[in-house]
Amino acid sequence: MKIIPIPSKVDFKNKFIENIPGEKCEINTALENEEYILSINPEEIKIEGGSERAVFYAKQTLKQIEAQYDKLPECKIQDKPRFPYRAFMIDSARHMQEISEIKEIIDAMALLKLNTFHWHLTEDQGWRFESSNYPLLNTKAAVRPRSDFGGENDSSPYGRVYTKEEMKEIVSYCAERYIDVIPEFDMPGHTSALLSVFPELSCKRDEIKIKTRQGIYDDVLCPAKDKTYEVVDKIIDEFCEIFPYGYYHIGGDETPSKQWEDCPECNYLKTACGLKSWAEYQNYFMNTIIEYLAQKGKTAIVWNDAAKGANLDKRAVLQYWKEVPKNTVDYANSGGKVILSPFSYYYFDYYYEITSLRRVLSYKPKFKGMSDDGYKNIIGIEAPVWTEYIRDKETMQRYFFPRIIAAAHTAWSDKGISYERFLKEMQYIEKLIRDKGITFEDKSEWGYKRISTPHGWLRFTHDHLLKK
Ligand code: ACM
Ligand code: ZN
Repeated sequence: MKIIPIPSKVDFKNKFIENIPGEKCEINTALENEEYILSINPEEIKIEGGSERAVFYAKQTLKQIEAQYDKLPECKIQDKPRFPYRAFMIDSARHMQEISEIKEIIDAMALLKLNTFHWHLTEDQGWRFESSNYPLLNTKAAVRPRSDFGGENDSSPYGRVYTKEEMKEIVSYCAERYIDVIPEFDMPGHTSALLSVFPELSCKRDEIKIKTRQGIYDDVLCPAKDKTYEVVDKIIDEFCEIFPYGYYHIGGDETPSKQWEDCPECNYLKTACGLKSWAEYQNYFMNTIIEYLAQKGKTAIVWNDAAKGANLDKRAVLQYWKEVPKNTVDYANSGGKVILSPFSYYYFDYYYEITSLRRVLSYKPKFKGMSDDGYKNIIGIEAPVWTEYIRDKETMQRYFFPRIIAAAHTAWSDKGISYERFLKEMQYIEKLIRDKGITFEDKSEWGYKRISTPHGWLRFTHDHLLKK
C-alpha cells in the first residue's frame, strides 16, 4: 500500500473486498486532535477521528487507497502527525496571484495534510491588505509604478490590494479543508510600501518610495514614535477581523539599523531602556507588538533574524530560515517554540538544481546541540515560495510540486525513506494532485544530488548575496 505521508501504523490484510462498503465517520475523543483510525472491512469503511479535521485526514488517505486498487483492500490504518504545524507560504506582495490560483494550490495542499497557509501580504514592493482605516494603503501602497526584478524592467504600474471579501473567501476555502490562514504583516523592515503612505513613521520622516526591485532596504519603521504603534495596532485590528486563527506573523527579518543609528529619538530610547545593541532595540519593537497580539489572544511568529537580540519575548514562535542555527537552538532549548524553514532545503523559489526533491526529502528537522526538550519545542516546518522572480501560476506550481510532497511527508511522518522508495510511494498522491490540474516540475529536474551548477549558484548569489 503506497501512501504519502507514510502513516504511523498500517495493518494490511492482503484480502480484497468485492463490493464497495458504506462509510461511517465518528469522533473518538480518546484519539488525539489530528489522529485518525481508518478501518476498511467487508461490512463498512469506518473512520474514527479525534476531531473533524482528523476525519478529513482519514478521507485524504482513503483517496490514495482508492486510487491504487480496483477492489478495496481490508486494512486498518492508525495515523497521527509528527508536528502540529505543517505549512506552506506564498508571497503575494512581490507578485500577486489571482484568488482562483491560490485556491488551486490550497486544494492540492489539503491532500498532503498540510494545515497552515502562511500568507505574506506586505512588502517593500507592494501592500496587499485592504484597509478601511487607511484607504491610501489600498491605492498608493498597493501599486508600484514599475517593476525591476532581476534586471528585467517593466514600465507598467503593478499591483492592487486583496479586498476583504477576497481574503475572507480564502479563509473560508481553507477552513473547508482544515487549513488555518496565518497572515504576515512584515515589520519593522520590508515596510517601504507602508512608509510611502506614512513617511512620518520612519526616522527621517522624508518621502519614501515603494520599491521596484528585490533587495533589503534601509527604510524601516521608527520604534521611537508613538504614531508607529498607533498605525500598526489599528492595522493589526483590521487583520484580526479577517484572520481568526491563533497565530499571526509579524516578520522581523532583514531589518537594517542604519536609520535608527542616525535617529536621536531611537538613540534616546535605546539608552533609556538599557538596550545593549540595535538587535535588542529591534526586539523592543517586536516585543511591543508581541504583547499587543497577546492581549488579543494571538501568538506572534517572527523570523529568526529577531533572535539576534537575546531579549525576544519567549511567547513568540521563532521561524528559522537562515544563518547559524545557534540562536534558534538556544531559543528552543530554553523553552521557546520554533518552526523550521531552512532556506537551503525549504525555500522552493530556488531552482531544482540547488534544492532538488532529493535534497528536500533528506532534511532532518533537528539541529546539533538541540536537547530532547528543545526538540519538543519544534512545532513544525514550513516551505515558502517567494515571488521576486515567480510571476505566473504555472511557475509557482512547478516550484511547489513535487517538492512540497517531500516537505509534507517530513512534517507528518518521522519515518525516514530513501529517495528511490519515496518516488515509488508518492506515485498515487502525485496522480491525485496532477488530476487537480496542477503542473509539476519536469521529472528530469527532480533528482540533482548537490548544489553544483553555475546556473544554480547564479540564482543563489543573486538572491542572497548581491541584494544585501
Ligand atoms: C526571509 O526570507 N527574508 C524571511
Ligand atoms: Zn527612529
